Amino acid sequence: ADEPLVLGIETSCDETGVGIVRGTTLLADAIASSVDEHARFGGVVPEVASRAHLEAMVPTIDRALKEAGVSAKDLDGIAVTAGPGLAGALLVGVSAAKAYAYALGKPLYGVNHLASHICVDQLEHGPLPEPTMALLVSGGHSSLLLSSDITSDVRPMGSTIDDAAGEAFDKIARVLNLGFPGGPVIDRYAREGDPRAIAFPRGLTGPRDAAYDFSFSGLKTAVARWIEAKRAVGEEVPVRDVAASFQEAVVDVLTRKAVRACKDEGVDHLMIGGGVAANSRLRALALERCEAAGIRLRVPRPKLCTDNGAMVAALGAEMVSRNRTASSWDLSADSSLPV
Ligand code: KG4
Ligand code: ZN
Repeated sequence: ADEPLVLGIETSCDETGVGIVRGTTLLADAIASSVDEHARFGGVVPEVASRAHLEAMVPTIDRALKEAGVSAKDLDGIAVTAGPGLAGALLVGVSAAKAYAYALGKPLYGVNHLASHICVDQLEHGPLPEPTMALLVSGGHSSLLLSSDITSDVRPMGSTIDDAAGEAFDKIARVLNLGFPGGPVIDRYAREGDPRAIAFPRGLTGPRDAAYDFSFSGLKTAVARWIEAKRAVGEEVPVRDVAASFQEAVVDVLTRKAVRACKDEGVDHLMIGGGVAANSRLRALALERCEAAGIRLRVPRPKLCTDNGAMVAALGAEMVSRNRTASSWDLSADSSLPV
């Protein structure tokens, strides 16, 4: 086949991901997660993540090659997340990618984590139209990005000025004693609650606020105060209604701003990625608002939305297809790499 065979390595946070693609076809998506090791701390501990990556790296690469049924010598390139992310965690992936690429004599491609989150949708829905607006929402980022060329022209439209959307889900779940990570469990409880039960604030939606930036810390405080007030007077906290009302406040703002950005820029494709894209209410409301605005919505399946190696391989394959220059051997991890 003409399409490039690329292996991608992702270690920016707590998932050791190794994926293999041929062009826009997914061949393997191997993941080792240290999420359980972080659960008792209520968040990702960088040192724990780095050590877990180191232990999981080689076995996960082997597993991906086996799953794809390909030989490492047939690869057309090795791609790796160069940033942004946790510095120590990124370094494990970058070092491994360099070692494999050098030993196998393959070109090395350091790629941006956020661009990878966008590019992964090709594995689900085929070639990504350009331009495409992307809403990336996870535990580490909440951004609106305009991709005109996924390998070289991804423009940040806005991002959170405080907490990431996923972080807000995790914090509210902690206040409600629902465990970590909080997103999936809030999503579940919210299905049985009333999203209009409590009017929580929509951050940065005033006429003088930045059109595409997000803020979730005021919402988080408002929800925590509301719960505290109930507990202070000995009243039972209506967990389902709180979950539904909080979730509605988050997804209302996310979808409103994403659709507005599409309209303002004349872009008629919106993709949503990152761990929070798994949220059922976000998917439903985004679809409703996109349909009303004549925008085509693309959301990859949840396993491709959360951090994984396949997304890195997908962007690496695009780099190869478009004849982009490979990275040099002194490629370094950059924890705050811009898109
Ligand atoms: O992309 P991801 O796996 O890792 C990061 O880069 O952060 O995203 C993890 C985040 C967590 O904050 C988790 O609570 C959130 O995604 N999440 C959800 C859902 N599933 C995961 N948030 C809302 N609803 C969900 N169904
Ligand atoms: Zn991510």
